[in-house]
Amino acid sequence: MIIEPRMRGFICLTSHPDGCAQNVKNQIEYVKSKGNINGPKKVLVIGASTGFGLASRITAAFGSDASTIGVFFEKAPSTGKTASPGWYNSAAFEKEAHAAGLYAKSINGDAFSKEIKEKTLATIKADLSQVDLVIYSLASPVRKHPDTEVLHRSTLKPIGGAYTNKTVDFHTGNVSEISIEPATEEDIANTVAVMGGEDWAMWIDALKAENLLAEGATTVAYSYIGPSLTEAVYRKGTIGRAKDDLEATAFTIANKLKDINGKAYVSVNKALVTQASSAIPVIPLYISLLYKIMKEEGIHEGTIEQIQRLYAERLYTGSPVPVDEQGRIRIDDWEMREDVQAKVAELWTEATTETLPSIGDLAGYRSDFLSLFGFEIDNVDYQKEANELVEIEGLV
Ligand code: NAD
Ligand code: NA
Repeated sequence: MIIEPRMRGFICLTSHPDGCAQNVKNQIEYVKSKGNINGPKKVLVIGASTGFGLASRITAAFGSDASTIGVFFEKAPSTGKTASPGWYNSAAFEKEAHAAGLYAKSINGDAFSKEIKEKTLATIKADLSQVDLVIYSLASPVRKHPDTEVLHRSTLKPIGGAYTNKTVDFHTGNVSEISIEPATEEDIANTVAVMGGEDWAMWIDALKAENLLAEGATTVAYSYIGPSLTEAVYRKGTIGRAKDDLEATAFTIANKLKDINGKAYVSVNKALVTQASSAIPVIPLYISLLYKIMKEEGIHEGTIEQIQRLYAERLYTGSPVPVDEQGRIRIDDWEMREDVQAKVAELWTEATTETLPSIGDLAGYRSDFLSLFGFEIDNVDYQKEANELVEIEGLV
């Protein structure tokens, strides 16, 4: 069928299989163009189908010839109905990996559940015996707790008082003021339950208990900090509490891995257009100004550039991993550069519906958003009938 983008609010209801496949191919080509990384060999990526997790899987496979197992939660296609983009991304990844002679298997289901953990552990045991890198890259609005069965919902709210600032509807380009009511204690606890470190620790405990972590294994989860402009709704808001918890969990996990010489890190990544970040108020306006400046400075990166740099220049250099005073890896270093942030802050005060198209990179935001769903990608023929019923080769 002919597939076009169909928008509803911050989501796109359709996705293009060929566009998603092209996206994956482009990421693979990028990684290959940067040369080999003396990196991981057997990798588990939790949250492997889109965003930073997909880039982590691609970099491991095509930068270091790693065998990969990817866990994700995506919607399968049905006749006349497209799959979610992560499904098509994973199908394309598996196809390319197998064509390159690489082991790749995928598990589709709720990573927070005991069932999916057991399935993943069994697959590692049967096929790889151990893993030497575990990437934790989940972004989810909900988590059903595996022990209590309580359904926790995360929120994106300020803490302590209401917060008012500018935001943009990136579909219409309309810049307006938004006020967000402060979180309750329950909102905070729920957000920490979903996006904090408990599930990461559960994964590592389960892997370790079954002796599935290789000597010297590394695990990495992703975090974000950002500037003072967004801190009320991000780093000092409910999601920030979850990230504090995630970052603290890295130390707990690192202690548990001492006997196998294992390492646990949080990597602080750059703000990027993903399905997760598009739903956060204020952030899209910040990103559109940031993109404009970083592109002008020639320091703009997407998820694949970020993760290739994480592996090649932080994790697998052969020297100790450089971290900040709080033990975190920083690949948000270019975003956080003083000159970059000073310019964003200046443009922020000038941003209106009228000025944004010229002072910000609204076009880049929109196009990145559509590319998440496989649209507006070069070298894809959108007039051609596409097959929506794509299967994932290595689905367990
Ligand atoms: P994303 O939405 O692109 O990816 C989320 C992944 O999690 C997908 O593979 C999805 O299938 C999977 N997933 C969600 N719920 C799941 C579940 N219940 N079971 C199994 N899989 C599930 O998000 P992203 O932006 O790549 O975010 C990944 C991490 O990076 C998050 O921790 C996020 O906070 C962090 N991060 C994001 C940004 C940004 O700007 N996007 C910046 C820094 C850090
Ligand atoms: Na991800």
